[in-house]
Amino acid sequence: MRATLIIVFILLLLTGCELGFTDTPQSFVAPDGPVAGMQGDLFLLSVWLMVGILVVVSVLLAYALWRYRDRGQKEIPFQNPGDLRFEVVWTLIPTLLVIFLAVPSVRIAYDVAGLPRGVDDALEVKVTGYQYWWKFEYPQLGIVTANELHVPVDRHIDFTLVSTDVIHSFWVPRLAGKVDANPGKQTHFWWLVDRPGVYYGQCAEYCGTSHANMRMRVIAQAPEEFDAWVADMRAAQATTPAAALADTPAMDNGSGTALIARGRELFMANACGACHALGDAAATGDVGPDLNNFGKRHTLAAGVYENTLDNLKEWIRNPDAMKPGVIMPPFPLSDDDLDTLARYLLSQK
Ligand code: CUA
Repeated sequence: MRATLIIVFILLLLTGCELGFTDTPQSFVAPDGPVAGMQGDLFLLSVWLMVGILVVVSVLLAYALWRYRDRGQKEIPFQNPGDLRFEVVWTLIPTLLVIFLAVPSVRIAYDVAGLPRGVDDALEVKVTGYQYWWKFEYPQLGIVTANELHVPVDRHIDFTLVSTDVIHSFWVPRLAGKVDANPGKQTHFWWLVDRPGVYYGQCAEYCGTSHANMRMRVIAQAPEEFDAWVADMRAAQATTPAAALADTPAMDNGSGTALIARGRELFMANACGACHALGDAAATGDVGPDLNNFGKRHTLAAGVYENTLDNLKEWIRNPDAMKPGVIMPPFPLSDDDLDTLARYLLSQK
């Protein structure tokens, strides 16, 4: 009975493990870039080394238990007060093992901290952690976005990471290991993404009530697609109110530009622009996520909800109910106004 319980307990524990050799969305030993590759190899090297040690120690232990088992003899067995040869051996072996692991660990720690020598076309990205979302700035390109990081494949990404409030940890398991985002201290590291796709990540350092709701997506694109995204973002951020009205596509409910105009009024009247940037509404807030091209994002609330009209309305009405601890206050608008504001935001694309 007890053995069964122990086995069930171990199996339950194992359900928390990613056994690693699988192609799961957040498997850190199924790397899609050289950084995760180096780190994954180092991890596996230490795992196999430990497995080897476990096997050797277990065999020796089993042998000793069997060889020196109680055979009913009366006298106390030989007591060994110490043997220099043994002591040298069991000090030397662990020391050699530590050195064996330290050499590649230190080398990789340096390799992932600074761009490889000779790389001069890296894309700079500044990541800022907020309670509870991520800001992504592209200083060379003059654009800003949030929670969904677009990067080109096969190009080095030169990251600067910082936090505005508490310590967060930036982690996209298939692309690289965790890096802490510290308030007031910039950390540098780089990535290179091998193939296009969407990669999932999350904050990996407990940072408050909605730590578990601080997710992100990395959208790795072919260079042409990435350039198109950049052009689109630049256009959105440079849009003036008049221009936005002129080329706004017809809305779902058919009210087109009138709805847009009313939506922007609501956006301004509720002071949304004090916290959010939105070119079209001449808003430059920097407290919450940048909303340029918001309608093109797949998710809401740092990757937690799908970006749909219903979710967005719920969100504006009472963000805290969807994401406990969020800084954004509730906006108890009338149903009509809520619908208009949400449609206006979704029209930003
Ligand atoms: Cu941010 Cu946990």
